[in-house]
Amino acid sequence: MKNSLYQSAIDILNSNDRGTYSLPTQGLYPVQFNWDSAFAALGYRLLNPTRAWQEVQQLASSQWPDGMIPHIMFRGDHEGYFPGPEVWNTGQFIPTSGITQPPVLASVVRRLDETHPLDDSNAMQDMLRRLVRWHEWFMQARLDPQSEAILIIHPWESGRDNMSDWDCGMARVEIAELAPYKRRDLDHVDASQRPTKEEYDRYLSIVKFGRDNHWKQDFLGKQSPFRMVDPGMTAFLLRSSRDLLALLNNYQADNTTAIAQVQQHISTLTRGWNNLWNDKVNAYTAYDPVEQRLLDNVTSVSFMSCYAGVCDDTRHGKLMDEFDRISKLAKYMVPSFDPAHADFDAKRYWRGPVWLVINNVIGVGLAEHGETQRAERIRADSEQLVANSDFFEYFNPITGEGLGGKDFTWTATVYLDWVMQGSKNGKD
Ligand code: GLC
Repeated sequence: MKNSLYQSAIDILNSNDRGTYSLPTQGLYPVQFNWDSAFAALGYRLLNPTRAWQEVQQLASSQWPDGMIPHIMFRGDHEGYFPGPEVWNTGQFIPTSGITQPPVLASVVRRLDETHPLDDSNAMQDMLRRLVRWHEWFMQARLDPQSEAILIIHPWESGRDNMSDWDCGMARVEIAELAPYKRRDLDHVDASQRPTKEEYDRYLSIVKFGRDNHWKQDFLGKQSPFRMVDPGMTAFLLRSSRDLLALLNNYQADNTTAIAQVQQHISTLTRGWNNLWNDKVNAYTAYDPVEQRLLDNVTSVSFMSCYAGVCDDTRHGKLMDEFDRISKLAKYMVPSFDPAHADFDAKRYWRGPVWLVINNVIGVGLAEHGETQRAERIRADSEQLVANSDFFEYFNPITGEGLGGKDFTWTATVYLDWVMQGSKNGKD
């Protein structure tokens, strides 16, 4: 028996479907976003595998000549989205933003391939080539040489836009002379749940720097006014690299160059992830490459080590103690930021709320590592959140209230693809 929420999730995927790509939600985000789109494919896979492959192929087709797959693709009618293509001014054949987003695409392609392999081998080879180039781009344009982990040149690149981890990097960004602008996000969501005006001025100042420097990505990786090393990006790229390696071994076993390259990425990123271990707080944390210091913030992505495939036993035990500490403070796991921290804000975007995509990857990683109970706590909390509050963009970890945009694609997809797969309610 399938429950009505299951049907609502399907309805959301259908209503945010634009034929060959999806929107995160209507109104607030009328554009294709990189990692939203990759996650969406996992939902479409359950409805129509051909449509799922189209989604990831559309995403990969926006790749820049330098290898980057951008964070936003402006397709179709994107009227009402700010900042639009004229602000980014990237000069690409598909109008896009000038930064990237967490690389989950290879992991999604591997999942699609496991259940519904593409029946066009040229298209699969093309996908693999694009993935190898994107990963190589990350290692060239976004690897911090000091920590050997992945840095971001704009908070939006992390996908966790206003994390308190980025505050010290943001404070270094001088607000440029900006043309007057009107934010469109506040037409859809209450200001208390979104980044502040000052944050927005800084976001746009970094965009101006990229535009003024013709989006030369190697240069931006070294000189952007904002640079911070992100444990989230590092863990996603590490996991995706392992998944890409598995795909290459299956489909391009004689491509020893690409295989060696990806193996090299895995070794470097493993060292990078280990370098983000912070003994002071017993967790993997962000790193400031300018001041060359680890930050003392425990965030949801601190718990991505198992997903990334680096589970050191001594550290893992300490990390799980942190997990348990936070699970006593939050009714719903996993808050994006430590509820005990003075800057925790249960409603404001990435400064406290729970996001189901992050729950998904932490839950999968823990389950793979035999942490059944903790994984189940996250899954069951996710199920409760949707049951009580519907398919919102994010949720208050203390009250469970749904926040941000409604009818969200990735909340629906994670519900269908992961939450309900482990539930006793509403499965076939
Ligand atoms: C917000 C999120 C980002 C997401 C986008 C579309 O900007 O922070 O991660 O990709 O919305 O859902």
